[in-house]
Amino acid sequence: MDFELKSVSLAEAASWSADALVVLVSDSPASAASDSPLAALIAQAHGSGALESGVAKLLSAYQVSGVQAARVLLVRAGDGSPSSVRKAVAAAVGALKQPGIQKIALMLGLIEPDGDAVSAAVQACAEASYVYTHTKPSAKARALRRVVIGVSKPDAVRDGFAYGKALVVGMEVAKEWANRPANHATPSMLADCARQLGRKPGFKTEVLGPKEVKALGMGAFLAVAQGSAEPLRFIVLRYNGGTKSSAPVVLVGKGITFDTGGISIKPAAEMDEMKYDMGGAASVLGTFAALAEARPAINVVGLIPSCENMPDGLAIKPGDVVTSMSGQTIEILNTDAEGRLILCDALSYAARFKPRAVVDIATLTGACVIALGAVRSGLFSPDDGLAAALQQAGEAALDPCWRMPLDDDYAEGLKSNFADMGNVAGRAAGSITAAKFLQKFTAELNWAHLDIAGTAWKSGAAKGATGRPVPLLLRYLVSEAQSPLPDVPPRRKAPAKRPHKG
Ligand code: BES
Ligand code: MN
Ligand code: ZN
Repeated sequence: MDFELKSVSLAEAASWSADALVVLVSDSPASAASDSPLAALIAQAHGSGALESGVAKLLSAYQVSGVQAARVLLVRAGDGSPSSVRKAVAAAVGALKQPGIQKIALMLGLIEPDGDAVSAAVQACAEASYVYTHTKPSAKARALRRVVIGVSKPDAVRDGFAYGKALVVGMEVAKEWANRPANHATPSMLADCARQLGRKPGFKTEVLGPKEVKALGMGAFLAVAQGSAEPLRFIVLRYNGGTKSSAPVVLVGKGITFDTGGISIKPAAEMDEMKYDMGGAASVLGTFAALAEARPAINVVGLIPSCENMPDGLAIKPGDVVTSMSGQTIEILNTDAEGRLILCDALSYAARFKPRAVVDIATLTGACVIALGAVRSGLFSPDDGLAAALQQAGEAALDPCWRMPLDDDYAEGLKSNFADMGNVAGRAAGSITAAKFLQKFTAELNWAHLDIAGTAWKSGAAKGATGRPVPLLLRYLVSEAQSPLPDVPPRRKAPAKRPHKG
């Protein structure tokens, strides 16, 4: 899909040639002189009440006299904020999702958008026109080829426009891989995708197989993979956009390409959806694809432990004890709590990069879906600064998360009589106990964990991947690039001890 940014007035928009012209109208339309055909149309639509108030309300017109585009869509964009613009453009482009509509002219000039609003518009165009075709040849591929965005001052929003285009590239990579069924998205296939990204300038990819992973002592990761005929892959991606000496941010993505639960097998209903249990990995691949476009001045490492979780004669059994790369032993009480087992070894591996921050992204727990639903991802971090940076990135990117607690008392249930820890605690606070498990492998790290089980996927009729949290991650990385990069990796401060009273 192709985007262009242009300087266009409302009068000029009337002579724009496109299959459809979409005009975003704010709540308080400037009383534009109604001497141009579009201004007259908007004034009448307003005055008559035909264009209802409320974000994303649409009014479509056909063959308006004096207007070149056959179809005109007026759409309410509320206060013109990025989130209103996103909803408005998604509604309009969604309504125009038909074979004949290949080129849309999108007039944003009336709402005087800032860069974020333009980025939101670009994102919405892509989201509303996305079609999954990889294993469905009968699906009509995306018809929309070209979107020309009109504003009055293009120079003021050029950065936001470029940012939006980079984001779209990344989100589509993430969506595509999370949507693909497990037999079309194996660990080796994810590795091939990473290798392709590794060919871009400034990028490097390394892929480890079972032998190398064994040599590293990743006993927890190996244990999950051992029940599957599909060989595991440990993917290491690097983007060097910053100076050589600047410490990288490490992103760790859970890459379970299918989660049956293993011997602690899941019920049949909706098990198909466990193909998106590599949503964290997909978001890392997507973020790297976006980095290749946006090219911020920062170093980033992506780590993806990837395998299937299958029941098999060789599979791990409840009660088995394995030794993680950190040396800590784990009693696997439930083989369905596999995500934390592959992530813990990847977190140990992350330490070698002496990172400024490590963020893991995982479809980790059903409990997080219960707690936060599909609206906000779960955010866990002992570090207030890192938590605030991620929270803010999520708000700005319209990809929000919510910080959850990490009190040590939540780790009580992970105690085991037969190993340094069990891999599950009780049913209560399941997303937090999972995070507490991961935290045991982050002693040296400035670490945060995003549980995206609820946000990476939509169930129901619109079933499919969302591309989240690529917007949050890209935003975070770009804002980190803008803040001064320390030459020496910051050590996480020991938590301040509260002075005793009395
Ligand atoms: N991949 C699942 C978590 C999940 C559930 C993601 C629903 C998306 C939607 C994870 O591996 C899992 O099975 N977690 C268990 C943990 C339990 C055994 C402690 C869960 O959430 O039930
Ligand atoms: Mn599981
Ligand atoms: Zn899982």
